[in-house]
Amino acid sequence: MVSTRKTVSFHQMKDGTKEEYAYLAKLEAEHALELPKRILNQLRQLDTGLSGYQISRLDHSLQTATRASRDGADIDWVVSALLHDLGDELAPSNHDAYAATILKPYVREECEWAVRHHGIFQLAYYGEKIGVSPEQHQKFSDHPFYESTVYFCEHWDQNSFDPNYKTEPLTFFEDMVCTVFTRPAWHASHVYCGTPLPISLK
Ligand SMILES: [Fe+2]
Ligand SMILES: [Fe+2]
Repeated sequence: MVSTRKTVSFHQMKDGTKEEYAYLAKLEAEHALELPKRILNQLRQLDTGLSGYQISRLDHSLQTATRASRDGADIDWVVSALLHDLGDELAPSNHDAYAATILKPYVREECEWAVRHHGIFQLAYYGEKIGVSPEQHQKFSDHPFYESTVYFCEHWDQNSFDPNYKTEPLTFFEDMVCTVFTRPAWHASHVYCGTPLPISLK
């Protein structure tokens, strides 16, 4: 489909004018407002694809986020839990980094770090069954986010393949996704937090 929108005139970036870049920046800002909708659509794509488990990747994602929510975790954790396997379709060899890259400008550092490293921490549960070391996460044992990533995997991720668990639907999380992904990207108030916060309010 050909867009009816006004376009810039340049064929090479170096030829663009200030006015054209201001116009493009305005369109980018409008496009960014639709990010929550695009993320929710991508999550829905996880309902098909990788098979073999008793529940779909979407249901695993919803179950992980539901457990985080019921554990009293804050919005950054819940949304990170919801997105943590978003890369399963397009980045099967580095799905953790894929999700973390999407989250990084919008959630605090601790949650992004846990998602980025959850693949290696999850090996603790099945590494020896596939012939790789289950202890690889130990190299991060001195990291300030080590404990919270262990908690993420133990209490929310590795146990979320249960077809009998009462999982919340995607609609339950929609407002949270909208809140997080309409924050100003990279803003210090939400991105930087050098000290881990308590995961559970219980
Ligand atoms: Fe994962
Ligand atoms: Fe997972």
